[in-house]
Amino acid sequence: MENQEERSSCRRQRVVLFPLPFQGHINPMLQLANILYSKGFSITILHTNFNSFYTSNYPHFTFRPVLDTDPKDTNLSKLASQGVGDLLSGIMLLNQYGAVSFRQELDQMLIASKHQHEPIVCLITDALWHFTQSVADSLNLPRIVLRTSSLFCVLVYASIPVLDDQGYFNQVNSDLEERVSDIPVLKVKDVLKMRIKGQDDPAAKLLANMLKQTKASAGIVWNSFKELEESELLKIHQDFSIPSFLIGPFHKYFPASSSSLLEPDRSSITWLDHQAPNSVLYISFGSAVQLEEQDLLEVAHGLATSNQPFLWVMRPGLVKGSEWLELLPNGFLDEVGERGHIVKWAPQQEVLAHQATGAFWTHNGWNSTLESICEGVPMICSPFWGDQPLDARFMSDVLKVAVYLENGWRREEITSAIRRVLVDEEREDIRERARCLKEKVNVSLMKGGSSYESLESLVGFISSF
Ligand code: UDX
Repeated sequence: MENQEERSSCRRQRVVLFPLPFQGHINPMLQLANILYSKGFSITILHTNFNSFYTSNYPHFTFRPVLDTDPKDTNLSKLASQGVGDLLSGIMLLNQYGAVSFRQELDQMLIASKHQHEPIVCLITDALWHFTQSVADSLNLPRIVLRTSSLFCVLVYASIPVLDDQGYFNQVNSDLEERVSDIPVLKVKDVLKMRIKGQDDPAAKLLANMLKQTKASAGIVWNSFKELEESELLKIHQDFSIPSFLIGPFHKYFPASSSSLLEPDRSSITWLDHQAPNSVLYISFGSAVQLEEQDLLEVAHGLATSNQPFLWVMRPGLVKGSEWLELLPNGFLDEVGERGHIVKWAPQQEVLAHQATGAFWTHNGWNSTLESICEGVPMICSPFWGDQPLDARFMSDVLKVAVYLENGWRREEITSAIRRVLVDEEREDIRERARCLKEKVNVSLMKGGSSYESLESLVGFISSF
């Protein structure tokens, strides 16, 4: 997609991007940066010192540390000593205390960029960095928001106060299978599974601030595409008066993402090369969630009895209280033998695109969900929290490209779900719907397609600053 003419016409405009320091947020931000670079913008990536990514994969970008933990700044130092083990408190602390240092750093960058005749024209931040809106305003710098979730998820987050007033967060004794009256796609249990206790919960306050400051921004970039969420887009247009750019799926613009914080194990691909087409269950629960030991046993039993080949990403720390494989049931590895392959981290996009991959058992983080859609791979959904239960419900009940394990981790249900997506006759219908969706992705990215056109608008929008 690199177009030399476009590049020379708008090179010299610099865009500064600031991802949240977590894998599921870094990936889409760096993919967006690559897309904008290919459209002629110079790129600066701001990063905190809570993790380091392979900057050598991006020699064309400038990387700049921000919010470094200054020993004099006790709040930030405290956070550094805790690590960002607790995602939520990490994000909230930086939102609370980061503005002063961030403003100073951004101001210095703005001054330097003028001397280099390469003006910084806008700041693009993760939506959850809501504190950056007031900083950008004070420097007269337009801020664009990258929202790394689905539109559907944002609409549900915007409804939290209403859902709370209607009592949905306290329905412990009510019928969990009932549909939510204002959002009939969802069941009551999906709302509870977000693990928010109501509008006064710190997580809900973070989301409320995110929505408020997103509305105050210049525009929103979404890692989604119009055909996937048409009615949601109409609602977003009603609720948000700023422009929305649905230019996704981002990772499809380039061969394979290289923003992995962990080294992908290439044996995943050589192992897949020896498997029959559409036969393998790929299992990965992303970069952040953790399984209980009891749940791991159910997963292992389900895999053993389903009798299907599987490629399983068991990231170190995936199972609470274990280093790696030591809590797997005795005899499991011998029993599955060559039928199963376990890695610490996989080149996921390549795995999903491999002809041997027949289904994806996922936690429904938005990146994983989109990556599965793009390759036409049916899903088994086991969401943990946040946006995951919302996307799981959307995939299983609206798009019908997934089987939802909605009752948690039960070995019989796991075996049955694996057979439904890989063995039973029903699999053909699910696969056909997934294939149609993949086709829609491809069309949206072609010249004249919705994502293609939206990207053109975004480039024009940024160039006009
Ligand atoms: C987090 C949240 O959990 C998720 O709900 C939110 O939507 C985004 O932030 P994460 O849990 O990591 O993300 O899940 P996901 O969004 O699916 O992102 C994981 C990324 O890591 C994907 O891009 C996936 O391709 C990549 N990955 C995962 C690998 O490259 N290799 C692996 O082995 C596993």
